[in-house]
Amino acid sequence: MLQPMLWKELSTPVALVDRDRVEANTTAMSERVARLGARLRPHVKTHKCVEAARLQVRGHFGGLTVSTLAEARFFGEAGFRDVTYAVPIAPARLDEAMAIASKLDELNLLVDHVDTLEALEAVSLSNRVISSAFLKVDCGYHRAGVDPESDDSVMLALRMHDAPHVRFRGILTHAGHSYLGKTPEEIREVGEQERQVMVRFADKLARAGAPPAEVSIGSTPTLSLCESLDGISEARPGNYVFYDRFQAAVGSCTLDDVALSVLVSVTGHYPERNELLIDAGALAFSKDEGPTHIDPDCGFGAILSVGDGRLLETFTLASLSQEHGKIRSDAPIPYDQFPVGSKLRIVPNHSCLSAALFDRYHVTRGDDVVDEWRPVRGW
Ligand SMILES: Cc1ncc(COP(=O)(O)O)c(C=O)c1O
Repeated sequence: MLQPMLWKELSTPVALVDRDRVEANTTAMSERVARLGARLRPHVKTHKCVEAARLQVRGHFGGLTVSTLAEARFFGEAGFRDVTYAVPIAPARLDEAMAIASKLDELNLLVDHVDTLEALEAVSLSNRVISSAFLKVDCGYHRAGVDPESDDSVMLALRMHDAPHVRFRGILTHAGHSYLGKTPEEIREVGEQERQVMVRFADKLARAGAPPAEVSIGSTPTLSLCESLDGISEARPGNYVFYDRFQAAVGSCTLDDVALSVLVSVTGHYPERNELLIDAGALAFSKDEGPTHIDPDCGFGAILSVGDGRLLETFTLASLSQEHGKIRSDAPIPYDQFPVGSKLRIVPNHSCLSAALFDRYHVTRGDDVVDEWRPVRGW
C-alpha cells in the first residue's frame, strides 16, 4: 500500500506523471484512431510500464509496439499477446527473439535488408516456426526502411511473401520527419505524405503479387493532427501518452496536456550571473535540445511554478551537466521567491528520453501521489 503523500513534498529529482492527463491523452488518441477507421497498436517506448500500456490499448485489439526485446519480454509476461518489435533486428539477437515469440501469439519483427530476411528464414527453419515480419518502409524520414520507389523493395517484399518460414505481415513506416514541422499545417502535410506513400506502395505490392495484410504508420505529431487514415490499417503513436515540450511547440498538443514533469529543488543562487542552480541535469532531462527550429533559445525544458503550475516565461533551463542544471532569466531573478530548497517543476523537451532516466514514476492526482509505476529497463 502506498503511504499518503503530497508530490510537492517528495525528495528531488523525481519524475511525476499526471494520471488524469494520461487518461485524457490515451482516450483522445484511442477515439481519434477508431474514428479515422484504423486500429491502434500503440508504442510503449515513452513510458515502458504496464499501467500506461493498459490505458493505451482500451477500445482496441490489445496489440503493442515496442522498441527493445526487453520490452517485448516484459509486456509479454504482463499478458500482451501481439507485439511488434519496431526496430530492425540485429541478426545476433534472433535466437532471443524466437524464445520471446514462443511465449506470445505473435512477435512481429522488421526486415529492411535481404540479409535480415535470410537470417530470419534460417533461424525460423531451425526452430520449426513461422515468424511474422513487416517490411520497413522509408516514407521520407531517411532513418531506416526501404525506398518505396525502388524495384528492389518490391523484390524484397516478394521474397518475404514467398519465404516458407516467414509470414509477410505487411508494411510499416514511421514519419519521424514530422518533428521538423513548425505548424500543425506543416505536420498535416507530412502526415498526408506518409499516408499516400504507404497506400501507393501497398497497391504496387498487391499488383506485384505480395499484398500486405497490414499497412502500419505511426508518429505522434502526424496522428495527433492528421485528417485521414484512408488505406491505413494500423496506427502506432507512442509519445502522446505523456506528450512533452517539443510536441507542445509543434502543435501536437498544448503544454497543459503534458503528463510528465520533473520535480527539482533550487540548490544555489548566483545573482552575479542572474542564475539559479537546480539538483537535476542531463540525467533527468537528457540533452535533447528541443524545438530549436521554432525557438533557438528554448533551453532544456519548460519551467513551471510549483505553487500554481504557472509557466515561468522568463526562465530558461540554459545548461545541463550530469546532475546540475542552470536556470537563467531574461529579467532579474526575484531570489526571495525561489529560496534554496524551494521546488520547481520542469516539463522536459523529450519525455521518452527523460522518462527513461528514472526507475519509477510517481503518479499524481491533484496534490496527491496516488500510484507508483515501474518501467522496464535494459535492452
Ligand atoms: C518505428 C516507430 N514507430 C512508432 C513510433 C512512435 O512515434 P512517436 O514517438 O512520435 O509517438 C516510433 C518512435 O520513434 C518509431 O520509431
